[in-house]
Parts: sequence; structure tokens; C-alpha cells
Amino acid sequence: MSKRILLVNSDSLSPSSLSALLTQEGCEYVYVEDSARAVREARKQSFDLALLNVSPADGPETGVLQNMRSAFPDIPVIVISANSTVDSAVQAMKLGACDFLTVPLDPDRLLRSVRSALRHRNTAPLPAQGHKFGLRNLLGNSPVMREVKLMARKLADTDATTLMLLGETGTGKDMLARAIHYDSARVDRPFMNITCTALPDSLLDSELFGYEEGAFTDARRQKKGLFELANGGTVLLDEIGDMSAELQGKLLRVIEEKAFKRIGGSEDVSVNVRIIAATHRDLEKAIEDRMFREDLFYRLSIIPILLPPLRQRREDIPTLASHFLLLACQEHKRLPKELTPAALDRLTAQEWPGNIRQLRNVIERTALLSNKEQIDADDLELGPHPGSDRPQRNKYAVLLPEQGWDMEEIEQQLLQQALERSSWNQSRAATLLNMTRDQVRYKMEKYHMKKPGAGKR
Ligand SMILES: Nc1ncnc2c1ncn2[C@@H]1O[C@H](COP(=O)(O)OP(=O)(O)O)[C@@H](O)[C@H]1O
Ligand SMILES: [Mg+2]
Repeated sequence: MSKRILLVNSDSLSPSSLSALLTQEGCEYVYVEDSARAVREARKQSFDLALLNVSPADGPETGVLQNMRSAFPDIPVIVISANSTVDSAVQAMKLGACDFLTVPLDPDRLLRSVRSALRHRNTAPLPAQGHKFGLRNLLGNSPVMREVKLMARKLADTDATTLMLLGETGTGKDMLARAIHYDSARVDRPFMNITCTALPDSLLDSELFGYEEGAFTDARRQKKGLFELANGGTVLLDEIGDMSAELQGKLLRVIEEKAFKRIGGSEDVSVNVRIIAATHRDLEKAIEDRMFREDLFYRLSIIPILLPPLRQRREDIPTLASHFLLLACQEHKRLPKELTPAALDRLTAQEWPGNIRQLRNVIERTALLSNKEQIDADDLELGPHPGSDRPQRNKYAVLLPEQGWDMEEIEQQLLQQALERSSWNQSRAATLLNMTRDQVRYKMEKYHMKKPGAGKR
């Protein structure tokens, strides 16, 4: 049976001379103009090899190669490039290309490469070995992201225990922490994470450190905490800026002495965990405000990595957006779609206060709501987002923050404002809130709200 070759975007090659070569070699080929089509074509029919010619402006790192390799890991890819630098060759090979050829193409060299790739068809290596949650999954080749990945690679390879990841929400702190763990020698041990804001203090305490039987009423038997369960592995403490002073102290001891006591316990438990702390807060300010221990801060931030907001690495947006679109279409079993240049421009120009998470949500919504194959700028579902520059107020008057909010607290705050605005006239406050006067009175009692100065007499 003849071998089937996918020929992608061969703009600097003359397709006819190439096709002659391949036909002579007994291969069939399908020609497509760009990577989105390549992925679509490869999904429709099977190929034994892809020849990928990327224009110098793109460079192999634009994600074409990455997309092909991640969607079809068993199709070997030969990269043909007008860019003959060693760097781009190394980059291509790292991303999993099986060979790198430069134009003008030497026909013999091409044939040798094609034959060898076809022979080794099923043994094409996955890019950079790495784990499937490893660093190679972090997209983005902006200078800052390259630096972040380089740094992360070094840190994964060494066992420097404590790391600090800083960056706005949605910039990829979780993903980076996980990637460092899975590319480190700790890979066979657990990766555990906990969000410090999500739990009340006492619960966080017992989640982290565990307890002994009888430590408190409900402690019927001993329970191991996260540090113990993750022994040998990695613990991500997310939103560390919100940890209470007492727990900060206990954490400091875990870092310095690699030991702690379970709640209600008297013996030390020794552990060896790599602690990765993450926060979107300005911890130096928290220290000034005496909300965060300075000694812990210095301990944690011996090696800080700052994940820049998306608006400071806009050149990564097209790669990320195309990747998320591919994922969304696969996941929701939609026909493959692609973003038009105008759509990519629109996405690139956005502010993205919610960073990569927000971009991902926008792309996912778009993939679900649009039936078009070509997604244009106007098809993008750039919905409202808390804190965005122009919140679209038409749908919701109040936006629920990402971390949620306490309904009763909102109720109380609204009631307070209505009462103040009506000089504590309960009937008028009731009108403002579309409630009855009795309801207002009931809620005031429930929340112990009184007109200032009332009842002092
Ligand atoms: N470099 C990246 N490449 C691809 N996807 C990313 C990257 N960084 C973040 N993401 C995705 O963006 C979303 C938010 O990332 P996350 O790590 O949860 O951010 P954070 O913890 O900083 O709020 C996740 O869906 C994650 O998979
Ligand atoms: Mg996070």
C-alpha cells in the first residue's frame, strides 16, 4: 500500500517538484495551506507522515508543529524551513519534529529523510519526553514566557525545595506548579494542592497537618494531613496570602525543620515535600499591613517566579487561542473551526483582566455558540467579566466574583445602603428593595441592624 503524506503550507517550495519526488517514491500526498486545515485533514484521513513547511515569519515555534504533535502524536513530522538558524532547528526537534530541512531543498536529502521517517513511523518520539502534565504543555513563546519556562525547567531538575509563584489570577500558576512537579524527580509521588481561601482556618489547619484521635470532639480517629499524604511529592499552597498568622507559623516550621505535629499530637512527624506557594496578592504590601509574616515571605520567595499578565505577552494570544479552540472542538465533538486573522487581532487587542483563564472561557463559549467553521471577530463571545474595562451591564447588574460571595452578606449590605439612603425610614427602604416593611423589619432584626444612636437614650 502506498504511503500517505500530508503536505502543509509549502509556500516556498514548488508543490509540483515536490509532488513529483513523492510520487516517484510511491507516496500519495494531500496538500493543505495552513495548520488548521492540516489538523482537520489529519482527523479525516490517516497519514504516515507530515511535511511541514512554515514560513520564516511564523517560525516553527508558532504552534503549528505543536498542534500537530499534540493532536496526532504518532504522525512523524518533518519541518522544512527557510530559517536555517541552529536555534530554530533545535526548537523544532525539541517540539518533536523528526527532521529539520532548510530551503533550497536538496531532493536527495529530502528523500532520505522521508524514507527514514516512514521506516520509523511508529517510533517517533513524543516531544522532549516529559510527562503529559509537564512543562511542554505550557504554551507561549514570548520572551517572558520563554524565560519562565527556562527557569521552571531548571527548578524542576534541581530539588530546591520551596518555590513561590506570583501572578494575577488566571496567569497559569496552578498549571506551572503541576508542570514543575511532573517534570521533577518527584513525579512518582503525589502532587497535592489546596486553596487557602477556600476553607475556614480550623479546617485548613486539620487539612494540612492532620489530627490525632480525640484531638477534638469529631476526631474519632487519626487523620493524616496533606503534608503527610504528599510525602516525597509536592504541595501547592494556593492563595497563601490569605493564610492566618498561626498557620503561617506552622508552615514556616515545616519549611525550616521539615517536621510538624498533628493537631492534638505531641510527636513530630517528619516530611520531605516540595512546597510551592502561589498568590495573586502583593505580599510585600501584606507584610507592611502586618497580614503576612516577613520571615515566611523570605523563606518562600528565595526563588520567585513571576507569571506576567496576558496583556504583557500579547504575542502568545494567537497560539493560546488556537490551541483552546482545538481543545474545545475536540471536547465538545464539534467540527474543527478556525479563527480568522481579524478574530485573532481582536483577541490580541483585548485587555484580559482574567488572563489565560478568561481567554479560554471566551474561546470555549465561542466554540459552543458559533456554528461557523471560520470564526470572525464578530463571532467571538467576549462576554462580561468582573473588572473588565467595559463591563457589559445589560445582562447582570451585579457580577458574582469568581471566588463566590456570601448571599447573606450581600443582602445585609444592600439593606444597609437602602436604610442609609432613606434616613432609616423603613417604608422607604422597603420600596427601594421591592420588599414589604415587615420584611425589612424582620431582616433588620436578623442582622442586628439599628439606626446609629438608636436605643442609647
Ligand atoms: N502557558 C499556558 N499554556 C496553556 N494553557 C495555560 C497556560 N497557562 C495557563 N493555562 C490555562 O489557563 C487556565 C488558568 O490557569 P491556572 O493555572 O489555573 O491559573 P492561576 O492558578 O494563575 O489562576 C487553565 O485552564 C490553564 O490550563
Ligand atoms: Mg490558581
